Amino acid sequence: MRVLVAGASGAIGRRLIPKIVAAGHEVAATTRDPAKSGELHKLGAQPVVMNGLDADAVAKAVTGAQPEVIVHQMTALAARADLRRFDRWFAVTNELRTKGTDFLLAAAREAGVSRVVAQSYTGWTNPRTGGAVKTERDGLDPDPAPMQRASLAAIRYLEQTVCAGPVTGIVLRYGNFYGPGASEAFVDLIRNRRLPVVGDGGGVWSWTHLDDAATATVAALDHGSPGVYNVTDDEPATVAEWLPYLADVAGAKPPMRVPTWLGRLLAGTVTVQWMTQARGSSNEKAKRELGWHPAWPSWREGFRSWLTEAGQQPRPGPAQARDPSR
Ligand SMILES: NC(=O)c1ccc[n+]([C@@H]2O[C@H](COP(=O)([O-])OP(=O)(O)OC[C@H]3O[C@@H](n4cnc5c(N)ncnc54)[C@H](OP(=O)(O)O)[C@@H]3O)[C@@H](O)[C@H]2O)c1
Repeated sequence: MRVLVAGASGAIGRRLIPKIVAAGHEVAATTRDPAKSGELHKLGAQPVVMNGLDADAVAKAVTGAQPEVIVHQMTALAARADLRRFDRWFAVTNELRTKGTDFLLAAAREAGVSRVVAQSYTGWTNPRTGGAVKTERDGLDPDPAPMQRASLAAIRYLEQTVCAGPVTGIVLRYGNFYGPGASEAFVDLIRNRRLPVVGDGGGVWSWTHLDDAATATVAALDHGSPGVYNVTDDEPATVAEWLPYLADVAGAKPPMRVPTWLGRLLAGTVTVQWMTQARGSSNEKAKRELGWHPAWPSWREGFRSWLTEAGQQPRPGPAQARDPSR
């Protein structure tokens, strides 16, 4: 198949291109920056310069590449994180998820593309009531924090628009990414003891290794009926479990613990909700319908491998006894 990856130079795109090529497909890969063309070429793709917020440029890129499948990986998350002004931090990403999706889908229809696979997210987007682990049927948080409303609306828009047809639309909700190039800044925060466990640390997170996100995306090129799929590991875990473990693997001191009121004061509502109320995500549907299985089913081994690959020698041995209740 001919596959166009829109937004191919980012954390996921760079791991994804070689895997699509290895599966026997041709890849056209977009970037806004001609200087990144060489790198995309080295990864095995035909580089295409395109701004996803320019409808004409998107139409031209799609017409030129004549893909059978388009993969939408355009985000602008490398902007400096600002959890207190979440929607402001996500503003361009939200545009890419709304306008950018519209432009890609219009071009896809025009060019007779048969399938679109688009990046979404699962984590803080889950409803924060009821069971600890949610499926795709549980929908999105009906009551997001005020500073996350626009970002959740953009995710909802992308998911509904991609799945609405007529082009077959697959939405992959990746969990919280880790892996080389994904979250080293996060580990720095932990090493500097600037990421405490807030309250009881009872928020549940689902993690996804970048390579597992990439293999699920390759599977979705020709598997699955239109819809939304959680692409996460097999072991949703509370912050109170994974954060001390990651600190230990990274050779850092155990994270500090702060009460909820202090966490809110220091880091704001989004951080507190994430650490105390978040719900995890089940990957059963993706396994069943995409025929995909994570190579890193648990963040326990995954974190260790990530830090090794990132050249940050992890602390040897099992960092912490496995919770016997699991
Ligand atoms: N599920 C998750 O947890 C999740 C998901 C995604 C990202 N992240 C994290 O966020 C951080 C940054 O992600 P990232 O490195 O992938 O970078 P990013 O800045 O989010 O960019 C992603 C891709 O989108 C493209 N892009 C951005 N604006 C565009 C536009 N206007 N038109 C067309 N393409 C556009 C970029 O290409 P050019 O700049 O080359 O044009 C790049 O290829 C990483 O730490 C990553 O792990 C997490």
